[in-house]
Amino acid sequence: MLHDFLRSRRSVRRFKPDPIPESVIERVLTTATYAPSAHNRQPWRFVVIKNPDVKPRLAKTLTNKMRLDMQAEGAAESEIDKRVSNSLRRIDEAPLIIMLCRDVTDVRINTPEETVMNIQSTALAGLQLLLAAHAEGLGGNWICWPLYAAKEAQSVLNLPETWEPQAMIIIGYSNEQPKQKELKPLNTISIYL
Ligand SMILES: Cc1cc2nc3c(=O)[nH]c(=O)nc-3n(C[C@H](O)[C@H](O)[C@H](O)COP(=O)(O)O)c2cc1C
Repeated sequence: MLHDFLRSRRSVRRFKPDPIPESVIERVLTTATYAPSAHNRQPWRFVVIKNPDVKPRLAKTLTNKMRLDMQAEGAAESEIDKRVSNSLRRIDEAPLIIMLCRDVTDVRINTPEETVMNIQSTALAGLQLLLAAHAEGLGGNWICWPLYAAKEAQSVLNLPETWEPQAMIIIGYSNEQPKQKELKPLNTISIYL
């Protein structure tokens, strides 16, 4: 049943080294583009990263910024080292990384509300992408680090100026069993009128 499928998607952070066939990647990305978007602007952009030379450069860029931010917050060096090495491993292990961007110019008019809609639309494509990956037997994880290093990520990936990174989605064949997830009861998060 489709509901069971939707409810069975989980964040996956550990992957087998198995590569993902090109045709599967194309299908996942194509399905992501069927997401709804404000004014049908389709502001999402995808940077498909598989190249073993690009991944370490991206990893270094993001974790350098992570280290600086954590130092500024006064985190202990041991905690920073742990987080950085964990993050490096995640990027290294993922056979596929999609840098999900929004084109900041793909708005009907330049207002704060339209900017929010541009971001919301991009996020919907991200969810659709995760579900499409799940449909292919792949696992994925939405990672927010690029939000803290958008300029740096843009520069290391040589992205067009108008492509603003929103999230990094790591994808691969799962090598972990996700822990049970607690859901907030529906009656605590809904109002029926
Ligand atoms: C906007 C957003 C940002 C997220 N950032 C991170 C992240 O930086 N690192 C991470 O491990 N997971 C991240 N996640 C994944 C969440 O931790 C995960 O979706 C949540 O714990 C629920 O688990 P589930 O996806 O298995 O249902 C993010 C998810 C969203 C929607």
